Parts: sequence; structure tokens; C-alpha cells
Amino acid sequence: MRTHYCGTINETLIDQEVVLCGWVHRRRDHGGVIFIDLRDRTGIAQVVIDPDTPDSFKLAESVRGEYVLSISGKIRNRPSGTTNQDMPTGMVEVLVSSLTVLNQSKTPPFQLDDENVHDDVRLKYRYIDLRTERMQKNLMLRAKLSRTFRSYLDETGFLEVETPILTKATPEGARDYLVPSRTHPGQFFALPQSPQLFKQLLMMSGLDRYYQIVRCFRDEDLRADRQPEFTQVDIEVSFTDELSIMTMMETMVCKIFSSILDVQIPAPFLRMTYAEAMSDYGSDKPDLRNPLRLTEVGDLLVDTDFKVFSGPAKSKSGRVAAMRIPNGCGLTRKQLDEYATFVARYGAKGLAYIKVNDIDTGSEGLQSPIVKFLDPKIISDLLKRVGCVSGDLVFFGADEETIVNASLGALRDKVAGDMSLLEDDWRFLWVVDFPMFDWDVASKRWSALHHPFTAPKTDINEVVREPSKAISRAYDMILNGCEIGGGSIRIHQSEVQSKVFDLLGMSEKEAEEKFGFLTDALQYGCPPHGGIAFGLDRLAMLMAGEQSIREMIAFPKTQSAGCLLTSAPSEVSIKQLEELSIRVRKPVKLD
Ligand code: AMO
Ligand code: AMP
Repeated sequence: MRTHYCGTINETLIDQEVVLCGWVHRRRDHGGVIFIDLRDRTGIAQVVIDPDTPDSFKLAESVRGEYVLSISGKIRNRPSGTTNQDMPTGMVEVLVSSLTVLNQSKTPPFQLDDENVHDDVRLKYRYIDLRTERMQKNLMLRAKLSRTFRSYLDETGFLEVETPILTKATPEGARDYLVPSRTHPGQFFALPQSPQLFKQLLMMSGLDRYYQIVRCFRDEDLRADRQPEFTQVDIEVSFTDELSIMTMMETMVCKIFSSILDVQIPAPFLRMTYAEAMSDYGSDKPDLRNPLRLTEVGDLLVDTDFKVFSGPAKSKSGRVAAMRIPNGCGLTRKQLDEYATFVARYGAKGLAYIKVNDIDTGSEGLQSPIVKFLDPKIISDLLKRVGCVSGDLVFFGADEETIVNASLGALRDKVAGDMSLLEDDWRFLWVVDFPMFDWDVASKRWSALHHPFTAPKTDINEVVREPSKAISRAYDMILNGCEIGGGSIRIHQSEVQSKVFDLLGMSEKEAEEKFGFLTDALQYGCPPHGGIAFGLDRLAMLMAGEQSIREMIAFPKTQSAGCLLTSAPSEVSIKQLEELSIRVRKPVKLD
């Protein structure tokens, strides 16, 4: 039986007999001696088979990559000149006395140390991909992260409670995954987008402090930081307010960073209003490692004849903003064209710029497709406002405010990435004072920016009077431009909740059907309460330095929300469908 893990052998074990088990990472024939790098979860051990053990030697000649072996032998120092200081086991090797092949392996579809394997191949053969050091480290980090969350929450009086997976739709803004009910023909469960309403009900039940590390399901467009099933660290607290929740969560996150990464994060975190974030960064999750900022310049441009600028500057829903790029004069025509194409994806109709080659020589020193349309005084005010010096470039966005924010916000990230402007740091912040509602143009209705159970900051009657101005008691925790958590203080009064449903365009009947259980429960002694949910996959991704949460999930879905390993989703038998009272209409084939 195994006595040691491969990655744990070292000089303290010299002359000891050990038994190791693992996979053949590499095999090298060295003139009569065979070296095998044997790998398990903990690392790699070098084992040596020489012809003095002829049976083992013969076997060793036949082994190939990813064969599964058990070896026994004696630990010895590696001969001088062959040690490897970079490997934890690099000072020693095992001289094999016996070798057993526990299983063979077909030639794997890719080499474990190949960093350019196509993602589809990695996902199809995920069981092999998960053998790589990178993926094993990622899964270990993730496990450590959930353990640290759990122990902190346990120690601070939170109770772990499981909530249903087969449930009723809770609107979090995405499409639901539905599960047909056999016992209620024609009816469906929804998989939870989050345990939001159950955790509120638990507060009403007097559980006081709840948490759950829980799978959530959302049928939405996938991105690098979005999967259809993902994990939340879901938290709810009674008799609380935003400040105490935010402080508690900061303390927890600081502990997590110090215990897992040995990084000390300063607290309290910066707090920024939604309005400030949109105005200065064009985003409600600004990456503060990025020094670029947006500057309001509309007021300088209301009277210009250049309609591209004066139109949005005059319009109530318009915005004209500038973004100074230090040393941006070096950007080539080709790069500027690429940036114009980039912002067009966000609806921008163009990307005006001024290159400030020399700030002291008036229009002579400027290079730009727009200066000819602008008065020299306006130009000099513009350049002063954004703080230009010679060598800088200024981009301009002029359009509906939403388009300017989306396009310049995204350009800000892109340019900082391209020009390597990001500081190497952990920059946390809270974004607060979100609007309660968003106007949905398509359905001509208000929709909740966070979710419909978030409490307003002001009296509900004021909210009803002017929904567009209403501010909510929600807060998001942002790390390096990624929303890692979000929550709010909740509505705990039935009348207030009903008024919000009404504002969202829900009829009384519809509200009763969908949320009657909530508005009822609110009438039986509901404490004031609030909470938050962290995206475990996202936090793990940032801590591991990965670019996608797929790298932090053992068996993730593809871009089109399928599983390449098991080929899910898949068709089911007619019998199964009949039991569920479902008849499938063949989807129309689109060319
Ligand atoms: P929210 O919808 O903001 O809030 O979700 C909380 C956190 O979950 C993570 N997250 C995701 N991670 C990966 N893939 C996804 N598709 C995905 N969607 C969200 C994010 C996000 O910050 N019930 C509320 C929380 C509350 O109010 O307490 C909720 O679910 O990191
Ligand atoms: P035009 O007069 O449309 O050729 O535009 C002149 C310059 O302004 C070009 O460099 C365009 O890229 C830029 N531009 C046009 N529309 C916008 C806009 N909405 N926001 C920012 N720049 C724009």
C-alpha cells in the first residue's frame, strides 16, 4: 500500500523504503537507466529503474505517458549535478525495487504541459485536463476558499441552512431553468436563480443569521465571468443595516485574503455612489487599478456648431465625456481605427480624438479630425478640463448617456489593458446608492435594478411619486473591475412590497400568484433584514489570477451552455416525455 505521496518525498527520508502510486508524467531512457516522473495530486517524484531489477526494468520499458503505476523503492540523494532546486522533491529520487502497472492509458489527446490546447478539447477530456498542475491548484484554492468562508461564518454565529432546488421562479433578471413536474402535469418547477426569498423567509422564522454555499441557475448569455450554474456564498442577517453588513463582509473578505493569499487588504473599502461610478468610469463596477477617468465636458460644448457634440450636450438624456490617455500620442492611426470599431459594438457612432503633440503651440500642436469644427477657446478649455500635457491623447464620446458610458467605460478597460496601465494590486470598493429602477424601453415598464425585494432609501410614497429618482439600499462589492458580491437591505413591510410590485407593472392578481406567499409572510412579524451573496467562482478566479470562471469549476458548461464531456443536454425517451405529459415540437432548422 502507498506510504507517501509523490510530492512529499525529501531528504529527511533518505534510505527509507517507500511505496508511491501515481501517473507517468514523463519517461526518459538514459543509456541503460530509465527515469520516470511519477505524478499525483501533491506533485512529482523522480523514480529510477536500473537493469539490476530486470523484471521492473522490462516493465518500465513498456510504460507510456499516463500509465498508472505503483512503485516501491528506497529514497536516495540525486547525484550531484542532477538536483533540481525548483522542485520540492528535486533533491531526491527513488531507486525502484519493484514496479507494478496498475493500469494502462491510451495516448492522451493532449500533453499535460501543453498550454495551447483548444478549450473544447480540454472540456471534452476534462478528466485529463483536471490532472494538470494548474487545474489541481485551482480546485484546491477553491476548496480552501469555501472552507474559509464557511469557518468564518460558523464562528460568527451564522447557521447553514439548505433551501430547495426544485422551486418557484424568483426573478433575478435572467431566464429560468424549468423542470417539468410528473405529478402535476403541465406544471413546472424552476431551478433557483438564487435562494433570495427563502433566505428572507428564514429571517422571518427567527434564524437571525443564515448562510449557504449554494448552486444557482440562470439561463443567460455566457461570458468569461458567467456560467449557467454557479455558486453563491449566500448570506442574510436580521436587525441590521447597510453599514453593519458592509463592515462585517469587509472583515470576512480581509480574513480570506490574509489566510489564503497572505495579502493584507486595508479596510474600510472605498465607497462610491452609482452616480459617481458612472460619471467617472462609465461603469458600475470600475476597475480602480486603471488610472484612466472620464471627464464631463458637455457644458463646454452646448453652444458649438459641431452638432455631434452640441446635440448630446443639450439633450437631457445625452452626455459628452472625454477620456485623457497619458502619452496617447503614440497611438497609431490603425490603433485609433480599431478603437473606433471597438466602441461601435457598444452603439457609439464614432470616436473623436485630439492628439496633443504640443500643448503650447495652439491648434498647430494638435492633430485631430474635429478641431476644425471647434472654436480655439473651447478647445483650450477642454484640454485644461481634462488636464492634458504634451504627448497626451483625448478621446470623446457624445451620445445618449447610456451609450457614452458603455462605450467609453469599455474603451477605458481596453486601452489600459493594451497600454499595460493596470497597477498590480487588489482594489476593492463598494458601489452604493443604486437607482431602484431601470426603464425598460421594450416593455415600457420599470424594472428593478437589483431585485424587487430591495428596500428604497426614502419613503415609499416618494418612490411612487418619482420612480426615476428613487435610490435603493443596495450595495455591490467590486474587486478589480469584477462584481464579486451584491446585496441589499430588504423590504420588510407588506404594504411597501405591494407598492413596489405595483410600480413594476404587476397586477394585484399577478403579484398574488407569484409572490402571495411572501406578502403573506411579511404580515406575520418580519424583522428588518438584509444580506448579500458572493460569487464564489468569480472570487476564486480573481484569487487564482485566471481570466475565466470556467478554470475554477470542475465540470463547466461551454459558451452555448452545454457539457462537452457528457453531451448534456440531450434528447430523452418518448416514455419519459409521456410521463411528464410533454410533447416535443421539433425545432425548425435554421440555415
Ligand atoms: P446577484 O444577482 O448580484 O444577487 O448575484 C450575486 C453574485 O453572484 C455572482 N453571479 C454569477 N457568477 C457566475 N455566473 C453567473 N451567471 C452569475 N450571476 C451572478 C456575482 C454576483 O455579485 N439574491 C441576490 C443577492 C442578495 O441580494 O443577497 C443575488 O443573487 O458575483
Ligand atoms: P463626422 O463629422 O461624423 O465625420 O465626425 C467627425 C469625427 O467625430 C470623427 O472622428 C468621428 O469618429 C467622431 N464622431 C462622430 N460621432 C461621434 C460620437 N457620437 N461620439 C464621439 N465621436 C464621434
